[in-house]
Amino acid sequence: MEPLDALLVELEEFGRANDGSISERPRRMLNITRDTGEFLAVLVRATLARRVLEIGTSNGYSTLWLAGAARAIGGTVTTVELSDYKIALATANFARSGVARYISPVHEHAGRVLARSADGAFDLVFLDSERPEYPGWWPDLKRVLRPGGLLVVDNATSHRTEMAPFVALVSADASFATSLVPVGNGELLAVKADPGWSDPR
Ligand SMILES: C[S@@+](CC[C@H](N)C(=O)[O-])C[C@H]1O[C@@H](n2cnc3c(N)ncnc32)[C@H](O)[C@@H]1O
Repeated sequence: MEPLDALLVELEEFGRANDGSISERPRRMLNITRDTGEFLAVLVRATLARRVLEIGTSNGYSTLWLAGAARAIGGTVTTVELSDYKIALATANFARSGVARYISPVHEHAGRVLARSADGAFDLVFLDSERPEYPGWWPDLKRVLRPGGLLVVDNATSHRTEMAPFVALVSADASFATSLVPVGNGELLAVKADPGWSDPR
């Protein structure tokens, strides 16, 4: 088994044991499901998303799925995490993953990272962080996605009520086409219109 695959299995077991025995949210890993990881890895490859931004690293489980796909297509993943505890766990996991060179961890508030990112800087953004923050981040999320870029948001069905204000914002935006995909905890997909797309009408 490749070191990356073995590490993913190890982290799944760690996440299950850790989150099953600890109730304080800051110490829980709250990882995506394996099928969500597989889905993200397919999306990165299928859309040739070479510049990926992840918001909410935790211990790096989802990052590793994204990074394995980024390696396959010559891309990189920037991943943002605010917690000292979790960025330390993630950094240690990346170091033994075999894909560390495709990952740029950023230990900072995601709002600040988004605010200073250039327009169109990312091909794909994976959002898996503090859900009440999402509506406030929406203007920058829109801006940092390139035309034709893809936003993927976790927990769209597991936390439907909490996600509702953000889903309403994205759905009401004429420059995005959305789909709710029943994988894992529910993934909201939103693709940004590209003025270069031809319109046959
Ligand atoms: C659901 S967990 C991410 C799980 C990870 N994507 C995975 O599947 O392995 C959410 C993470 O967002 C982090 N977080 C919360 N607020 C943040 C913020 N403002 N900026 C960056 N990270 C934040 C939390 O510390 C937590 O680790």
